[in-house]
Amino acid sequence: MKTMLNARMCISTIPANNCSARYAVLGAGFAGLSVAWHLLQHSSKDSHLCIDIYDEVGIGGAASGVSGGLLHPYSPKVKVLWRGEDCWNECLRLLSVAERALEARVPDSISQDSSFFCMDEPIVCRRGILRTMMTEKNAEIMKENARTCIENCNLELLDKDAAQNLVPRLHVPLNAAVYMPQALSIRPTHYLQALFAACKNQADELCVSFSKKVEVNLYKESIDTLCELAGKYNAVIICLGAKVDMLPEFSGKLPLRTCRGVVAQLNLSAHSRDEYGCNSPSILSDAWLSFQGPRTVLMGSTWDWSSKNYSSSVCEDESSMALQELLPKASAVYPSIREWTFIRARAGLRAMPPLTNFGSLPILGCVNDAVKPKNKCMYWLFGGLGSRGLLYHAFLGKLLARAVVSDDEMVLPPELTSWKQMKVWKYNL
Ligand SMILES: Cc1cc2nc3c(=O)[nH]c(=O)nc-3n(C[C@H](O)[C@H](O)[C@H](O)COP(=O)(O)OP(=O)(O)OC[C@H]3O[C@@H](n4cnc5c(N)ncnc54)[C@H](O)[C@@H]3O)c2cc1C
Ligand SMILES: *[C@@H]1O[C@H](CO)[C@@H](O)[C@H](O)[C@H]1NC(C)=O
Ligand SMILES: *[C@@H]1O[C@H](CO)[C@@H](O)[C@H](O)[C@H]1NC(C)=O
Repeated sequence: MKTMLNARMCISTIPANNCSARYAVLGAGFAGLSVAWHLLQHSSKDSHLCIDIYDEVGIGGAASGVSGGLLHPYSPKVKVLWRGEDCWNECLRLLSVAERALEARVPDSISQDSSFFCMDEPIVCRRGILRTMMTEKNAEIMKENARTCIENCNLELLDKDAAQNLVPRLHVPLNAAVYMPQALSIRPTHYLQALFAACKNQADELCVSFSKKVEVNLYKESIDTLCELAGKYNAVIICLGAKVDMLPEFSGKLPLRTCRGVVAQLNLSAHSRDEYGCNSPSILSDAWLSFQGPRTVLMGSTWDWSSKNYSSSVCEDESSMALQELLPKASAVYPSIREWTFIRARAGLRAMPPLTNFGSLPILGCVNDAVKPKNKCMYWLFGGLGSRGLLYHAFLGKLLARAVVSDDEMVLPPELTSWKQMKVWKYNL
């Protein structure tokens, strides 16, 4: 059954086949919604743009929705990641787009299945992130790396006292920690809901102010094969996360491995008066603690490379095993976590890309070769966001939208498309 959410008066009378450009975006996670937003920014030459977003679960239905929401442009040894500055700045831009949509929100303008979309809570916690150092060897490398940072995401070396000033009772193993004051803790589902609302608002605005016809539709529908979409679209952008492998067109052809991660939510019990200060940072260590408010925290994450289970629900066995693994790691730096109460666990499947000279980079590009029989539509892949989807989604979504609109893969940096030279892709086509 097709369920169309959010049809608007402004556009509902226009027959869909009048679109001058029609795009399908498969998946409503970080990747899909970023692409949708950026396609709207490039709509100037289309008199009637239509973007259909398909997701079998809904917004943030898989990895994006369960992620820890930790956002900063550095590796575990605090080296600037590939295009770290671009990625960081595009994220800030997209976050403010989402924040503005939340402010401008008209009740009802957000998808109806969003009962969990609590409007009082902000999307972003600007509390910074603190990374502890766990071994002597790493500490030396980190201190060296921390000399170089990008302009608007500083790195500060702290000793134990300074670190404990930020987080009372923090355990600081080697009397040293790296503090990223501008790093962010995002509430992933809030953010995605707001980003979708921003897309709808933008469509309405183009519709009202420039009498352009722009549609953004979300279909809660599973796509089982790309054939279903053949002939309907100028381009199909595939942003299915770890499930991209389930499409017959891609099965066994992409250089991706899956890795399941469990995240536990813990709350401070009602009788405890020790709230976590709003200026105290989230914590990265052998486990991470992403503080989502004064009394609630996400603790992650496990790394199960043998699992292909993409279900976000976690059974009791899996959840207690995850707690057994994560609690000792988290309490090694933040012992007070033992006083928090377990609320629930959720899980997601990461789509892990191959390692390149630039690190583990997402895989992007035109994938028409995998689609047979050939048809006029262009097919694009945005996958392999690994464990840093939040950092990559905005910048790469922008680049990919540009490639899609200009029909030109060369717009993409070659390190993102070089996976197409790999045997697993070339020899399986
Ligand atoms: C436990 C965990 C913690 C993480 N923490 C962080 C973090 O703190 N910071 C960070 O940057 N990254 C983090 N990540 C990584 C990040 O979550 C991912 O890189 C990112 O979510 C991938 O986004 P995506 O849009 O590519 O995929 P997804 O979020 O998986 O989105 C794919 C969407 O496609 C839909 N879909 C799939 N198949 C179909 C189909 N056949 N038909 C229709 N719809 C379909 C799904 O329902 C889903 O909504 C974490 C990951 C995990 C697992
Ligand atoms: C945990 O805390 C969050 C945020 O304060 C709150 O919304 C939620 O209801 C709490 N859950 C339980 C079971 O106490
Ligand atoms: C995936 O995990 C869920 C929750 O733990 C469980 O109910 C389900 O049976 C698992 N599915 C597979 C295919 O293992």
